[in-house]
This record gives sequence, C-alpha cells and structure tokens, in this order.
Amino acid sequence: MRKNIRRIGIGIGVLVGLLVVVILGVFFNGRSKLNRAYGVAVVEISIPSSEEAIARGEHLVRTVSDCTGCHGENLEGALFSDDPSLGVLYAPNLTAGEGGVGRSYSDSDWIKALRHGVGGDGRALLLMPSQFYTEYTNEDLAAVIAYLKTLPPVDNPTPERNATVSLSILIGVGAFPSAYDLIDHDRDWDERLSEQVGIETGEYLVDIGACRDCHGLNLSGRIEENGPPPGPNLTKGGELVGWSYEDFALAIREGMTPTGRQLAETMPWKAYRGMTEEELRSIWQYLQSLPPLETASE
Ligand code: HEC
Ligand code: HEC
Repeated sequence: MRKNIRRIGIGIGVLVGLLVVVILGVFFNGRSKLNRAYGVAVVEISIPSSEEAIARGEHLVRTVSDCTGCHGENLEGALFSDDPSLGVLYAPNLTAGEGGVGRSYSDSDWIKALRHGVGGDGRALLLMPSQFYTEYTNEDLAAVIAYLKTLPPVDNPTPERNATVSLSILIGVGAFPSAYDLIDHDRDWDERLSEQVGIETGEYLVDIGACRDCHGLNLSGRIEENGPPPGPNLTKGGELVGWSYEDFALAIREGMTPTGRQLAETMPWKAYRGMTEEELRSIWQYLQSLPPLETASE
C-alpha cells in the first residue's frame, strides 16, 4: 500500500515537473516572439507630396481607417490597453514630436508597419490591425504616408509595451497571433482601385476600414471577448436583413438603427460618418452581395 502511494507520489511529481517544463517552454517561446526583431523585404513605393494625395491620405487616416480611434485625435499616441491579464500597451505617437515615430521613420519604416505589421525597431506589432491595412493599394498607402509625414509634431513620449506572463504564454501557444503572423509578406499589391462605386470597392473599404477586426473575418459577427469589441453579424443572416441603403447610411452617419437604437461608440461610426456617399453605397452593395451567414456563436 505504502509503496503504491509512493509510486503515485513520484508519478504526480514527474507530471508536475513535466508541466512546469512545458509551461516554461511555451513562456520562453512567447517571450522570444515578443522580443525578436522581424526582418521584411520592403518593396519601396514613391511617396507623393501633392495636395490631392495628402487630402486622400487624411481621409483614409481619419475617416476610413480611423487611426485616430487608437492613436489619438492628433495621432499623438494614446493608451490602448492596461488590461491586467495582457499588460500595458500604447498606440504610439506617430508625429515627429518628442517620442514620436515620425521623428526617425523613413518611408520604408512606414511601409513596414502598415503593410507588414513590423515596428520601427523590428518588433511584431500587437493589436495594430496591419493585417487589414496590408490591403491598401500602392496609391492609397502612398497617400496615407504622405499625410502622416505632414502631421504637426506633438511632444508625447509613450511608455514601451510591457507584456504580462499570461500574454507571453498566449503568444507562445499561438493563441494570440500578431498581424505579422497573419500577413502574406510576398504577395503583389494592386496599383490603384479599379472602380469608384461597386462591390469590389466596398470589399476594399471593409478591409481597410478594419470592419472585420470587430465583426469577424467573414462579417458574421465576433463573440470572443478577448481583443477588439465584438460586433454583430453584418450579413443578411443578422439584423441587417430588412435594412435599406438609407437605414445603413443613417446607422453610419448618426449611429441610429431603424428601430431607433443608438449604437455604442465601440462601433466607430463617428469616424466612419465622414465617408462619402460613393463609399457608403459601395460598402452597402458589398454587404448585400454576401451570403446570409448564421451569426457566430460559441
Ligand atoms: C485598433 C487600434 C489601432 C488602430 C485602428 C491603428 N493602430 Fe497603429 N498601433 C496600435 C497599437 C496598439 C500599436 C503598438 C503595437 C505594439 O507596440 O505592439 C500600433 C503601432 C503602430 C505603428 C508602429 C509604431 C512603432 O513603434 O514603430 C505605426 C506606424 C502605426 N501603428 C500606424 C497606424 C496607422 C497609420 C493607422 C491607421 C491606418 C493605425 N496605426 C491604426 C493600434 C492601432
Ligand atoms: C472597433 C470595433 C468595430 C469596428 C472596427 C467596426 N464596428 Fe461596426 N459595430 C461594432 C459594435 C460593437 C457594434 C454594436 C454596437 C451596438 O449595438 O451598440 C457595431 C454595429 C454596427 C452596425 C449596426 C448593426 C446592427 O445590427 O445594429 C453596423 C451597420 C456596423 N457596425 C457596420 C460597420 C462597418 C461597415 C464597419 C467598417 C467600415 C464597422 N462596423 C467597423 C464594432 C465595430
């Protein structure tokens, strides 16, 4: 009897030991992913300085892609998350002021961050939605960078990111992919949009508007509490089934649904409301073209 108990005791000891080794392995794997400098082969594009390109860039940055929603109204940097389980994460200052990346960034650094999800120091960016911005056409990416280079400098150094042990473990097991992991770094990029209004333009705007970050990759809604705020089903399988274009436009422009419900500001309609009629029509046509998908559930 005593012998058996001893055996069980040794067995449990060995199991606990193994578990500790596995967890440590996963932890160090996560840490090394967090600390690694990622190299990417950036394909240079030429950055224009025309007023027209800068205005297009401003529209993309402030309205369609809502960079200001995370990086602050003047893109001066803002606290993004201090969730005790994930750690401290700032969306950094993008201007050329003190602590701003605009001070040292080259054109290829901007491309590296937006198209490949890699920061100026080579770190894989977390929760920065580059997996969607990678869809920018060359023309639009160049316009975005042209505008970012004109930002008035704001002095605002933000603290470096500080990941917790549990975030390192999540990254170690692959449960928290960075944008870098999700991007095809060798693809070809389009030169420019092929049409003004239409389904393809709508799909493009949904990509670079990062709608999928919250509404799910296929737009059938997201339910995970981890990460961006979960948004509802935008296909005809959801509440939008009976909506007209006017209902949709009102939801984006005024944050008001046809039943008179005010949308929360976790849905960035206050940024999107500045989209043009052509843009909203395109997005609507694209959403209408999707098969009705059942709302995502556990
Ligand atoms: C959902 C929030 C969010 C949105 C929207 C967003 N960002 Fe970010 N961005 C972040 C966070 C968070 C980081 C820092 C990530 C890290 O340190 O791991 C970041 C990092 C960056 C960096 C890297 C800076 C460095 O340290 O090298 C650049 C450049 C950047 N963002 C530009 C943009 C631009 C331009 C847009 C719009 C096209 C944008 N971001 C939209 C959250 C966001
Ligand atoms: C940062 C997360 C986030 C992003 C990005 C986002 N949404 Fe939303 N969206 C939400 C949330 C959360 C709600 C639900 C708000 C509520 O019910 O109060 C919502 C609601 C909506 C609704 C109303 C749906 C309904 O059933 O009432 C529409 C339409 C919508 N979003 C369209 C879009 C489009 C189009 C984009 C991209 C251009 C987009 N959203 C991007 C989070 C987001």
